[in-house]
Amino acid sequence: MKHKFSIILIPFLLAGCNSSVKKDPIMIIAPMESEHNVIYDTLVNKKDEVHGNYHFTKGYIDNYPIVLARSMVGMVNAATATTIGIEHYQPKSIIVQGTAGAHNPNLHKGDIVLGKDIIQNNSYVTGHKDEGAGYSLDNRENVGQEMVVDNQIEKIATLHSTKYLLDIAQNTNYDGKLVQGTISTGDPWNREIDVIKYYYETLHSDCEEMEGFAVGQVAHQYNIDFLCIRIISNSEYYPNEIFTEDAAKICQNYSINVVKNIIKNL
Ligand code: 5AD
Repeated sequence: MKHKFSIILIPFLLAGCNSSVKKDPIMIIAPMESEHNVIYDTLVNKKDEVHGNYHFTKGYIDNYPIVLARSMVGMVNAATATTIGIEHYQPKSIIVQGTAGAHNPNLHKGDIVLGKDIIQNNSYVTGHKDEGAGYSLDNRENVGQEMVVDNQIEKIATLHSTKYLLDIAQNTNYDGKLVQGTISTGDPWNREIDVIKYYYETLHSDCEEMEGFAVGQVAHQYNIDFLCIRIISNSEYYPNEIFTEDAAKICQNYSINVVKNIIKNL
């Protein structure tokens, strides 16, 4: 009788133990080494795995499984690493984090922008103009990327971080300015202030980076929760606010705290 009781009880006891119950990991996408190293060092019981030339690390934060991807820079790399990561590790949510350049003149180096909206600023269709008629940013229509919505293919130009992840991030302590805003993603790095101002004034973009929308697009296609976190690391409006790697480290530390709060809220 005693024996039978313990056989029934064992699965329930094991269910409370982290090592025995498979939990879907949180996947963090880090494009550059300077956006990857602090999180890498924070992971415990690490195991590195390489698929193609994409580097992934399985590990734990607060006993919860994490997959960290070093995607490398740019939209194609980000989308590829995200897809490989989803197929291999089945994450329950995906966070892309790293640096960005300011479009909004009210933002400064060290401010963090949470991507309430993430717009793709990488592809566009122009209206026809005759030879000699010149060219202008106004003649570009940002039509978006094809994604599936309710079994139909649609063009989407704006994605959103998942609301509950955004709320957790907003409520995570940060020793600096923390705002929700519009992050624009494209492969170019813009340094012309008139172009930057145009993106701020017409697209209402707060900052630019090269991965957020690509990660969000893949997350959308797999119906996985998604959060985009960016720290301003450079602003062309202010000559002393040039890119340095320390901003990326600050962003990683904040992102680790966001992950800890997500885990607490699970
Ligand atoms: N424009 C574009 N990408 C930027 N990044 C930081 N600042 C900018 C900027 N002003 C980020 C990108 C990419 C890397 C070059 O740095 O997301 O990963």
